Amino acid sequence: MGNAPRIGIIGVGVISKVYLETLSARGDVAIVAIADLDMARAAAVAAEVPGARALEVPALLADPDIDVVLNLTIPAAHAEIALAAIAHGKHVYGEKPLAVDLASGKQVMDAATAAGVRLGSAPDTVLGTGTQTARAVIDAGRIGRPIAATATMASPGPESWHPNPDFYFLPGGGPLMDMGPYYISALIHLLGPVTAVVGSASRLRDERVIGSGPRAGVRIPVDVDTHVTGILEHANGALSTLTTSFDSVKSSASPIEIHGEAGSLSVPDPNMFSGEVRFCALGSREWEPVDDLAGYLDAARGIGLLDMLAAETDAEVRASGRLALHTLEVMTAVLESARTGSRVALETTVERPPIVPLGSSFELTEL
Ligand SMILES: NC(=O)c1ccc[n+]([C@@H]2O[C@H](COP(=O)([O-])OP(=O)(O)OC[C@H]3O[C@@H](n4cnc5c(N)ncnc54)[C@H](O)[C@@H]3O)[C@@H](O)[C@H]2O)c1
Repeated sequence: MGNAPRIGIIGVGVISKVYLETLSARGDVAIVAIADLDMARAAAVAAEVPGARALEVPALLADPDIDVVLNLTIPAAHAEIALAAIAHGKHVYGEKPLAVDLASGKQVMDAATAAGVRLGSAPDTVLGTGTQTARAVIDAGRIGRPIAATATMASPGPESWHPNPDFYFLPGGGPLMDMGPYYISALIHLLGPVTAVVGSASRLRDERVIGSGPRAGVRIPVDVDTHVTGILEHANGALSTLTTSFDSVKSSASPIEIHGEAGSLSVPDPNMFSGEVRFCALGSREWEPVDDLAGYLDAARGIGLLDMLAAETDAEVRASGRLALHTLEVMTAVLESARTGSRVALETTVERPPIVPLGSSFELTEL
């Protein structure tokens, strides 16, 4: 790339720290501006990043010297910020979910396509060796024809550790919209797109108590279901059973298991980049560890943005807006099915992103 892509970050809360570490460690991208609704926070973060200025959000969006907006705001703001950035001709990579409802997600995708800019979205954890190695095992035919997957995220919820957990319990939040993107993206990498879903949902409490930070002890309302289950019918015929819960005290369930006619696969936590993949062939009794076969090594959050900037064509972007939109539709359809009691056929689809060859690295090219 002639010039390092110039990145402006909007939203510098909890998750921004790890992005700043990933991006600051590279010489081929430049973080040039930081914005947040909380200007004091933006100024404090910018002071720690050489070459970065603190800007108001509209000034960052309008700045012609910014090529890419990294959108790390809360879910309810994702679509609005992305649309504004696209309207200013900027490429956008954002935290998950792409938007909090399908119509907004489509609007963002359509706007990016019409403007000819790239759109990418977390999660990028599935580009690490964990999910990618499992993908390589499936693609090599070792489990034969896949028939089913189970995917389980069962936790007590984030209010014990997040200082401002309100958004997790407002529309657009909940365990499915928050954690579903990791599991559903992984399932799409592993088994391909989904054509229809069935869902059911419930909740244990109507309020939660913040457990840490300056607001510890404050009671916050719960406006979403906090135990959400779904069955995902993949285009290849496999069925995934997904559980996402903020109502579980403890779980020993495997994050993801894939079952095929010739073997089963245990896939590590898709919220992590690495972890042990285990395989058991039909006729065998014990899991066997699988050596890393694919994926970015030593990756951290932000690799999806770098992968997007390095891709020679839009179709090669792995943590793409297309994948995020399909993931969003899976989630909103599960919630719709839970509400209506009906099976929901999906409108969107997506190609499986290209596998990440083991230890891939890249030079960023001009977009
Ligand atoms: N916290 C985590 O562990 C974690 C992990 C992975 C992904 N994420 C995702 O990252 C995103 C941010 O989460 P977080 O935990 O950092 O939240 P946070 O509340 O700690 O930080 C969000 C920041 O965005 C700012 N903001 C909100 N709306 C804005 C707007 N309209 N314009 C400008 N700034 C705005 C807030 O002032 C705040 O500084 C969410 O989408 C979340 O799902 C969080």
